[in-house]
Amino acid sequence: MAGMSLVQAVAMKVYSSKFIAKRLFGIDFPALGPKDYYFDISTHVVVREVAKRIGPKNHLCDLGTGSFGVIGLSLWKKTGCKVTCVDVNPELAASTRKNIALNKAPIEVIDSSFFTNVKVPFDVVTFNPPYITTSAGKDLGIESRPAQWDGGEDGMQVVRPFLKAVAERQNPVQVYLAMNTLFVKGDAVRALVAKEPGLEYQETIRCRFLPIELHVMRNRR
Ligand SMILES: C[S@@+](CC[C@H](N)C(=O)[O-])C[C@H]1O[C@@H](n2cnc3c(N)ncnc32)[C@H](O)[C@@H]1O
Repeated sequence: MAGMSLVQAVAMKVYSSKFIAKRLFGIDFPALGPKDYYFDISTHVVVREVAKRIGPKNHLCDLGTGSFGVIGLSLWKKTGCKVTCVDVNPELAASTRKNIALNKAPIEVIDSSFFTNVKVPFDVVTFNPPYITTSAGKDLGIESRPAQWDGGEDGMQVVRPFLKAVAERQNPVQVYLAMNTLFVKGDAVRALVAKEPGLEYQETIRCRFLPIELHVMRNRR
């Protein structure tokens, strides 16, 4: 943890605590590899807020599910919704498959960039995307794989094509997109959505003590 501030070092301790992860998400986790972590603050906000808004009738696509499928697994456990987990990185998708087996959950994990290989119907999407700007990530000395956090020069290099992919869906989908306002201002995301005719921005869910915003939108179908 050389070069980290005290706050970062404490945050990494929290993110890599199996005890805290189990308490927050209500699911089981395997041991952690070096430089890895179970969740970040956006993961927690997504699960907390989306759990209040969906139920057994929904089919969730947890996009960018990461190493453990935390959002998908936790929302399955907490709400009884159907879940499909998706990640562009085959190594992370394989790791999530193991965690799904550990939790005995009826969840398929698909290797896909956005929705390209997803053939099952779903009506809700969660995405905690890589949004840390490349320069901030270097300054912070983040050691995990860049694909997990690197949002490019303005933090939105993954969000831009994601919004297009949602707008192109043929069936109605409700989207919960997490962003950290320390790296990307909410106005920048709202302006981007406003420019996309296939999307309707609905709501910003803000957190009292955390710099996380959940952008809620749907495609016009
Ligand atoms: C910040 S991590 C989130 C991990 C986990 N969902 C969580 O909240 O802890 C972002 C994830 O998005 C994935 N990702 C990035 N681009 C993607 C794309 N085009 N399609 C699917 N997943 C993508 C990365 O591989 C990474 O696992």
